[in-house]
Amino acid sequence: DAVERGEYAHYMLKEIHEQPVAVADTLEGRIAGGKILTQIFGVDAERLLADTQAVHIIACGTSYHAGLVARYWIEQLAGVPCTAEIASEYRYRDPVVKEGTLFLTISQSGETADTLAALKLAKDRPYLARMAVCNVPESSIVRESSLVLMTRAGPEIGVASTKAFTTQLVALALFSLELARAKGLDAARYADGVRQLEQLPGLIAETLKLDAEILELATHFADKQHALFLGRGTHWPVAMEGALKLKEISYIHAEAYAAGELKHGPLALVDEEMPVIAVAPNDRLIDKLKSNLEEVRARGGVLYAFVDETVAHGLDAAHVVILPAAGEIAAPVVSTIPLQLLSYHVAVLRGTDVDQPRNLAKSVTVE
Ligand code: G6P
Repeated sequence: DAVERGEYAHYMLKEIHEQPVAVADTLEGRIAGGKILTQIFGVDAERLLADTQAVHIIACGTSYHAGLVARYWIEQLAGVPCTAEIASEYRYRDPVVKEGTLFLTISQSGETADTLAALKLAKDRPYLARMAVCNVPESSIVRESSLVLMTRAGPEIGVASTKAFTTQLVALALFSLELARAKGLDAARYADGVRQLEQLPGLIAETLKLDAEILELATHFADKQHALFLGRGTHWPVAMEGALKLKEISYIHAEAYAAGELKHGPLALVDEEMPVIAVAPNDRLIDKLKSNLEEVRARGGVLYAFVDETVAHGLDAAHVVILPAAGEIAAPVVSTIPLQLLSYHVAVLRGTDVDQPRNLAKSVTVE
């Protein structure tokens, strides 16, 4: 065990630090000359992408959060309607499937019972194809799918998913950009998206250097009972994933809100005992997010902001962590890293079992 973890105290920490390599491996052989290789989505991919009129994403847990990020990308870049839904809900309702809809599951293990059941149900519906983004090649979900895009995160031992999530985002970005190209995305925006993917391993490595700074921040959270995570756009699901990590391993009650919903409820909870964590890279929603953060400050909330340096100026937060600047594809991945580190360090300070949190399983194979 200690040998496999090498220099790291926990598998989770090792897996966080493996992300530059896991992301590079997931990109390996999938981009050439600034273009995504269309055949990675199957031999008939060009026709499939052209025929795709809608996408239904189904997943659980962390994988569902990856799906929520992809929903923004697919609609923003490809202009294709997309929903992302929890498998345990999907399987017990009567989903309406219009012609030309692609069914897309996301799963690290490929064995999650609800996701597998949803996939089996989808077989009886008029879907265009059933595609899986998965980390385990010989898994049930891979076997039941007609198309597969593997993440290459390698074995993930820590129950709290880290490198599986970021590699899922990479696989979903490849798909979103390729679908968008087939639907006529502007060539410069496509090229920029591909470039951002190629730069990701380096950007993640740079972000990991914030570890000492985040360890210091973690000391502020160790005695807290609650935390609120805020984001907008693709950073709302990043905030959801940050809150999930904190709950899973530190047992601090954490919730994520789309920042615009703050005034519709959670603002009533904000005081000096409720730290507010905002993930706010420099995107088109930044001005709106800044005014949401003002609302938090005005109520005495202690604000922790993870932003790039262009945004840091003029941001009235108690604690600002500067992230490397990144575009619409790379930013959600980059912003995830400090939230993983934060929850890891808080959990270690609280003395919980980081790799095996109570009541949770790595793979939920029963309903
Ligand atoms: C469990 C794990 C989570 C994971 C979820 C979905 O709850 O603890 O980390 O996100 O299952 O798993 P999957 O293997 O389908 O991605």
